[in-house]
Amino acid sequence: MKAIRYHEVGGPEVLRLDEVPEPTPGPGEVRIRVEAAGVNFADTERRRGLYDATSPLPRILGSEAAGIVDGVGPGVDAKWVGRRVVALAPRSYAEFATTTEEELLELPEHVSFEEAAGLLVQGLTAWHLIHTSAQLQQGQRVLIHAAAGGVGLLAIQLAKQAGATVLGTVSSEEKAKLARESGADEVFVYGGTASVAEWVRTVTQGAGVEVVLDSVGASTWASSLESLAAFGHLVAYGSASGPPAAVEVETLYAKSLKVSAYWLRTPHPAALQRRAREALGSALAGGQLRVKLGLVVGLEEAAQAHQRLESRATVGKVVLRVP
Ligand SMILES: NC(=O)c1ccc[n+]([C@@H]2O[C@H](COP(=O)([O-])OP(=O)(O)OC[C@H]3O[C@@H](n4cnc5c(N)ncnc54)[C@H](OP(=O)(O)O)[C@@H]3O)[C@@H](O)[C@H]2O)c1
Repeated sequence: MKAIRYHEVGGPEVLRLDEVPEPTPGPGEVRIRVEAAGVNFADTERRRGLYDATSPLPRILGSEAAGIVDGVGPGVDAKWVGRRVVALAPRSYAEFATTTEEELLELPEHVSFEEAAGLLVQGLTAWHLIHTSAQLQQGQRVLIHAAAGGVGLLAIQLAKQAGATVLGTVSSEEKAKLARESGADEVFVYGGTASVAEWVRTVTQGAGVEVVLDSVGASTWASSLESLAAFGHLVAYGSASGPPAAVEVETLYAKSLKVSAYWLRTPHPAALQRRAREALGSALAGGQLRVKLGLVVGLEEAAQAHQRLESRATVGKVVLRVP
């Protein structure tokens, strides 16, 4: 089968379209004929050797796939064969990928494989940030950085559904427009003279926000802490601009702040993960949640997709269509 692998860490140019053996589903697993593979910022970090750096190379990239089940391993009900599904699935930048049966979410006919490929990594992250980590409540205010990105646009929609007021930060007017279209109440475009924290103070009449979701790290960390109201909660979940400064507990006392981290690969209670996945699946199918497809290219154009994602040139979801 065709697959995108990297043989050494480096820039987007290290991604190669290789011919590799097809995977076989093991016990409890299914094999998916991949129609669309989601691209995530973490894939670019993995390729650069900043994340998961101990994996042996060459390695097929990818972590989620939408497609059709074409085989099952021992112990899996054969009813799955032929069904349209989406799942967290490693090594999904390929024509076939395997995953466990419990990861499968069945897709109705009207949900496209491309949209579905944008649902799980970013949607589960957004869902757990809001419901599991921040436990965002009706009437609270949340500041979401990189608000027009894959996680960002989904987090805006889920935060609005939770009854929160949403403030977002982005790097361009085009991104600001998209964030507003997804429901953000106020959007800040970097680059002017005002700081994010000053802007937050202005739009919250001096109160600050109860929650900040920060995936940018180094360049936003200080303003994230400054933007919090008393007893506020900063949830870190990425470091697109580099790792944030170390947390000095002494600096948290003045406002009794809470700082936490969220990682999708932490083992989650199975029932909680199922609830999150099913909530996202039914919201997508029912039209209450939209996946904005910002860039859809062929599998062989994975390097271009990475280059655009890491140069901040994309909005919403980046997807590889698999032939
Ligand atoms: N913890 C977890 O389990 C988990 C899971 C999924 C994703 N993540 C993290 O969540 C973040 C968003 O992921 P995503 O896949 O949805 O990507 P994305 O938000 O679509 O793309 C990254 C965005 O980060 C912003 N950014 C700010 N400074 C940047 C810099 N120096 N270089 C590149 N981008 C920069 C850019 O938005 P602006 O141009 O608007 O600033 C860019 O569009 C990433 O940091 C990712 O690692 C974490």
